[in-house]
Amino acid sequence: MKVLITGGSGLIGKVLTQSLEVAGHEVAILTRRLDSKSTVTQYLWNPYRKEIDADALSDVEAIIHLAGANIAEKRWTKKRWEEMYSSRVDSAQFLYKKVKEYKIPLKSFISSSAIGWYGAGTSQEVFTEESQCADDILGALSLAWESAADLFADLGCSVSKVRTGIVLTNGGGALPKMTKPILMGIGSPLGSGKQYMPWIHVDDICAVYVHLLDQQLPAGVYNGVAPESITNADLTRLLAKVLHRSLWLPNIPSFVLKLIFGEMATILLNGSRVSANKLIENGFQFKYPKTLEALEEIYGN
Ligand SMILES: NC(=O)c1ccc[n+]([C@@H]2O[C@H](COP(=O)([O-])OP(=O)(O)OC[C@H]3O[C@@H](n4cnc5c(N)ncnc54)[C@H](OP(=O)(O)O)[C@@H]3O)[C@@H](O)[C@H]2O)c1
Repeated sequence: MKVLITGGSGLIGKVLTQSLEVAGHEVAILTRRLDSKSTVTQYLWNPYRKEIDADALSDVEAIIHLAGANIAEKRWTKKRWEEMYSSRVDSAQFLYKKVKEYKIPLKSFISSSAIGWYGAGTSQEVFTEESQCADDILGALSLAWESAADLFADLGCSVSKVRTGIVLTNGGGALPKMTKPILMGIGSPLGSGKQYMPWIHVDDICAVYVHLLDQQLPAGVYNGVAPESITNADLTRLLAKVLHRSLWLPNIPSFVLKLIFGEMATILLNGSRVSANKLIENGFQFKYPKTLEALEEIYGN
């Protein structure tokens, strides 16, 4: 199948491109900047300026929408927040208009979403795909993001949304940021350490996308998280164990993280459990269901 990935140059996109090619798909990516070193077919777009290389959509059967300004990269100023929103929502709406205008017979639109759907809170609730969208900024972003994906249903194609947890890989993202202080001997849990950190190994999140594309998973909404829940304190301890380091410092107080990261600290200090049951009930087999196995694979133990 000819597949187009928005944001295909990113952390998940790079690994997903390989997984899709191994599964026999023809992959191209949409990017704002061509990379001369990349071996994948690239097409330029600029969703802000409503520009896209028309060839990108020719014969495309499926689109995987991963584009989005990184949530954890910069402080959440008003301008950054607009960028995080527009790069996910306006970009999907723009693609929808183009697919409609060019009458592309798209079979499948699969969008990333995030566990932010369930909000930035710590509770004892275990959220399922049926749980309501939270009434906070992360919930609102996720709702708009998923609603933009739903537009594609009008075009007669199947729509899926993957509410992704923290993707574990040493290629970037959250894990290297957690690992660095531990390797320097100054690692410690964040805040109370009791907040949950729903996670998924990068190979498993890519397998979810491949299974949705190949219809081994029925289209719909899925939580892209591993079955094992873990708190920030336990994950920090497990990481230290896998890296053969010890933890000796007290937890980093919440107010320090708020001073450093501003409002963005909310995603470090809060988190609830998110259920992987829908994936499992639909026959998805996790390669890394347990945190220790995932970390040992990543760090080569
Ligand atoms: N990684 C995680 O832990 C995680 C967790 C939950 C959800 N997700 C979601 O999954 C998706 C992919 O994640 P990822 O970790 O692969 O992200 P990533 O490494 O930050 O890459 C995202 C891609 O989006 C494009 N992009 C960035 N800023 C943009 C902007 N302002 N306008 C348009 N495009 C922009 C970039 O592609 P170009 O520069 O080539 O245009 C970039 O390579 C994202 O939507 C993310 O929110 C990720």
